[in-house]
This record gives sequence, C-alpha cells and structure tokens, in this order.
Amino acid sequence: MSDVKTYPVKTEFQSQALIDNKTYQTMYQASIDNPEQFWAEQAEKLIHWDQKWQSVMDVDYREAKISWFNGAKLNVCYNCVDRHLENNADKTAIIWEGDDPEISESITYRELHEKVCRFANLLKARGVKKGDRVCIYMPMIPEVGYAMLACARIGAVHSVVFGGFSPESLKSRILDSDCKVVITADEGLRGGKKVPLKDNTDTALKHCPDVHTVIVVKYTHAKINWTPERDVDYQQQAATLSSECPVEIMDAEDPLFILYTSGSTGKPKGVLHTCGGYILYAAITHKYVFDHHDNDVYWCTADAGWITGHSYIFYGPLANGATTLVFEGVPTYPDAGRFWQVIDKHKVNTFYTAPTAIRALMGQGEQFVKQASRSSLRLLGTVGEPINPEAWEWYYHTVGDERCPIVDTWWQTETGGILLTPLPGATDLKPGSATRPFFGIKPALMDADGNELEGEASGALVMSQSWPGQMRTVYGDHQRFIDTYFSQYKGYYFSGDGARRDADGYYWITGRMDDVLNVSGHRLGTAEIESALVLHEDVAEAAVVGYPHDIKGQGVYAYVTLMSGQSPSDELKQTLTKLVSQEIGAIAKPDVIQWAPGLPKTRSGKIMRRILRKIASNELDNLGDTSTLADPSVVDDLIENRANR
Ligand code: PRX
Repeated sequence: MSDVKTYPVKTEFQSQALIDNKTYQTMYQASIDNPEQFWAEQAEKLIHWDQKWQSVMDVDYREAKISWFNGAKLNVCYNCVDRHLENNADKTAIIWEGDDPEISESITYRELHEKVCRFANLLKARGVKKGDRVCIYMPMIPEVGYAMLACARIGAVHSVVFGGFSPESLKSRILDSDCKVVITADEGLRGGKKVPLKDNTDTALKHCPDVHTVIVVKYTHAKINWTPERDVDYQQQAATLSSECPVEIMDAEDPLFILYTSGSTGKPKGVLHTCGGYILYAAITHKYVFDHHDNDVYWCTADAGWITGHSYIFYGPLANGATTLVFEGVPTYPDAGRFWQVIDKHKVNTFYTAPTAIRALMGQGEQFVKQASRSSLRLLGTVGEPINPEAWEWYYHTVGDERCPIVDTWWQTETGGILLTPLPGATDLKPGSATRPFFGIKPALMDADGNELEGEASGALVMSQSWPGQMRTVYGDHQRFIDTYFSQYKGYYFSGDGARRDADGYYWITGRMDDVLNVSGHRLGTAEIESALVLHEDVAEAAVVGYPHDIKGQGVYAYVTLMSGQSPSDELKQTLTKLVSQEIGAIAKPDVIQWAPGLPKTRSGKIMRRILRKIASNELDNLGDTSTLADPSVVDDLIENRANR
C-alpha cells in the first residue's frame, strides 16, 4: 500500500474542527467498549426527549430484533423545527435554489414552523392519523421538506418516491405500503425540462382504489387534470388552516418513514426507519462528519427521494439547527458551472455530492470551476458509490483548492446514516478509501466460510454491532429482512458490499457482491430491469449485468433473447429501452442491449452471470470454467457480438 498517497489533516482545519484524531480514538473506543453509555450520553446531548428510555439498546441479530431507546418518547419534527425557535427563530433553515438560476428563496425556522404546521393541519383535515402511510412524489422544492416534516409532526409515516420514477413504480410503492394519501406537485423542473408529476400520479392511481386524497402543490401552474372529490389544492387549503399544530408524541420505536430500495431479487423493498434511533444517528453523523458549525451553509445535492436526501438534506441538518440548501436543478444546467455558481451565490461552506457528478464535471474541463471563487468552501464530501482516485484528486485540487478535506462517506438506505467515513479534523485521507468507522460502528470482513478475517484482508463487509440508525424491518415482510441481511453470517448485519482493509485499518469498498447495480449512484436491481424487458411479447428471456462506465460508475448491459421467429432490429431496441423507462424510470434504461441467441446456463438452468459480466466488461482472458455449461457454444456467440470492446 506504500504507493497510496496520504493527505494528512491540515493544521488550519484541525484548529477549527470539533474533533481531532486523539478525541476520535477516545470517543470511538468508548462507543465500542460501552455502547449503551456512549449512546445514552449522545442522546441526551443531541435530542429533545419527552420521556427518557428504560433501556438503550435491545438487539438480537440472530432474530433480527433491533430496538433502541425503548420506552422513550419524542417527536422528530419538534426536534427539527420547534426546539430551534427559542433562540434561532430568525435563522435560515432552508435556502432553496430553483432549477432556474434566477430563482431562490430563504426560509427561516419560524417560517418553516408555520409552513409545516399548516401542512400538518391539512393532512389532519383529510383524515390522516398517527401510523397512516403517506406517499410523497415531489420535485425538489421546499414543500417536499414541509410535507416530510408535517408527516413526522402528526406521526404519519412518509414514503417518498423519487420524482424520476415512472407511474408504474409509483403505483407499486403506493400499494405495497397501502398509502391512502399522495402529496405531489403539478410539475417538477429539472435542467429546464418539465416533469409531469401530477399526470404520472393520475396514471398510477388508476390502479390504487384506496387513495382518497391527492394534495397538489401548484408550482409551475401547468394545466392538469383535476378530480374534485380527491384532489386538494395545497396553497388554497393550507392558507385557511391554523399555523399552529400540536406535535404527536411518539414512541422511540414508532415508524418514521419507509423508503423503497432495490435488492438483488424481487421488487424493491420498503426499508423502515423509526423515530428515536434514526434522528439521533442522522444528527450525530451530520454534526461530526460535516464538522458542523453554527453559521455554516451546508449543501447536499441529493434528491429527497433517496436516503441521502432524507438524512443529510432534511433530518440531520435540521435536527442540528443548521442552514441546509435544497437544490432543484442539475449540475450541468444552464451550464457545467452551476454547482460552483451556487456555492458562490449562497456562500456554501460544506458541499456533499456524488462521484458521478464529479466525474461528469471533470470531463467538462476546469474553466467552469475556475469561473467561481469557491472561497467559502471549507469541506467537501462524496456519497453513493466508490470514487476513483482520479476524480478524488480533481475534487481535492481543482474544486477544493487543496484547502478542503474530502469526506468519502460509505453507507446505505438500510443504515440510515454514514457508517464508514473520515472525520475531517481527525482522519488522514487516502483517495478512494472511505477510511474508518464512525462512532459505535464495528465493521468486520468475512471469508466465504463465514470466518471473520483479521488485519489486512478482503471479504464481505458486515457489522457486528448495531447502531441507532439501523433499519428495523422490511415493511410488511420481516422474513425478507432476516433473509437479506442476517442469514449469511450469523450474528452479523451483512451489507451486500465487499471491502478490503489495509495495513492502517482503512476500508476500501470494492462494490456490491450481489446483483445490485449502482448506476450514477442510483441503486437498481438487475431482476427489476429483467422483469421489465420480458414484458415485451417478442422477448423470451433477458439477463442484465453491470459494466464499468466512465461517468456513471456502472452502466446497464442487457442480454436479450428473442422468441423464436422474431428478428432483432434497432427499432426493437428502442422499444425495449422505452419499456424499461416506462416500467421503472429513465435511470434504469439499458446503455447496451445485446441480442443473445442463448444465455450461458448451467445444466440445472441457472444463468451464469459471472460470464455475462466478464463479456460485458470485455474481460475475456479470465472467463473461468465454462465446461459446466449446458451449451458452451453460446459463449462464443456472445463474445463475437459483444458491444463493449
Ligand atoms: O455499494 C454501496 C454504495 O451504495 C450502496 C448503497 O446504496 P443506497 O442504499 O442507494 O444508498 C446510497 C447513499 C448512501 C452501498 O451498498 N455506496 C454508497 N456509498 C459509497 C458506496 N460505495 C463506495 N463508496 C461509498 N462512499
């Protein structure tokens, strides 16, 4: 590992930082040696509880039973909004920057309180009660945050669905969690293009008979269809309702939200997070990973439809009383300088984005970066996928002017918050490594036989100790929770990722070990894309794998076998691409479709994806043993006609 560059913590940063390396070591050790005491202390410091807990953690990984702060009571919205009113009512809670660079808005904590209360009263007026599920399908406008917080205020469980998902995906998520209310907008805007959210909702709801209310935020004022007994005009109604709404006092283990994410098999699963543990973990990680100081302007570029948007645009920063920037647009609109212009415009100190955006902007040349001063920046972060050292170096030198540490944060929808990460005042950086565990996190690497590996090693990344932000179940399917995360390595949480640990104890994520793809930081199941492709009557079979893609990290490569008698054509390729877009969303569109007269299968009929992945990646010298295939000759055809060479 000696050839790996290390960037030591800079003294200038450290002198201002909340935590230095010595404090990290001491706090980390305490969090591992005595987690109950550590978490109880942090819970007292960071969160307002209406009633204290009887026990800190009750966890049994063998049964997948996880609960934190049993007996405690709190309200997450109170923690994110009301408790800041006494001293910080006039502080900016949200800076909203629209897709159109001319449009932005600041919302103080006092205004946030008023908006959220009115929204909560509207939900109540439509019959929403504690425990009810509410689907949120919104553009990146402040109202998405008001809607989430309004649910939390009255104890309703939100399920945010990314605005880029299709009506079909929206429908299946509404049905799975039995939402009776949907919150949407007439349209969203992204990169100057309109996204027909209300139309999509109308389409989805044709098959959701139990939805009795659609709350519509009129944003672009486009012409939309209106179902009078079902559709509610948010602006009109909210204005008539009280700007005060009492909070519902919740048990720490009451559900806070459901968020769907892709797995290696079947349809996306509803990851369930609960109130007490989640908000504590979101708050503490936001505070220490982003070295939060009171006057910081903090910007996470994610969408509210992903876990990063939940934990690090809204819940974590707002719990800490921060100023958080909500961005509607895309990095390249109106041009590739947008991020850096927004940083200058709002004097952003902390900037958190995805490697795929960094790679895309790197390809545009540094003139876009250099047009902005970026002098407010103090700290940079990345999330969602491995960052290649080249992109890391560009981010560090060109964007951060060698002044700003980079926190490469590894975590998952399931983990609720960041698990592996540098702390910027404490951890020497190595480009491409998510470095070390956060407080309370005990990672381990396992070999194929289920033994824990020591020292320098590569293996399956697991956690042997619970943390408060861990998911509690798959909504409606606890068995799936057990099978997916706790059955491979008894007594451990299995992340699905592989990792390497170097001689300094730093972790290097090597990627998913299952059939989950990570395309531009978006998580997709190969099975979902295959199911969409085989819906077409000409398609007999489909197999989808990932392959290395310069910008997206991974691209989607689909092998498609047609029904006998059907002929391949470019037109059919386009139809299939469109079908995937309709079924899932544009993010899942195959980059490559290769016609496959046959797929490599074992004699028992199992598709050998390992071979398909190698062909898609053009790694032909190491195909492995093909002699167990039912018909080894199909491989020759696939190699011959491969798209990537
Ligand atoms: O494979 C890992 C990758 O993203 C997966 C989790 O995806 P999702 O649940 O959508 O959450 C993304 C945002 C937290 C992980 O299993 N991943 C996430 N962060 C990193 C990463 N891979 C490498 N380095 C990271 N920093």
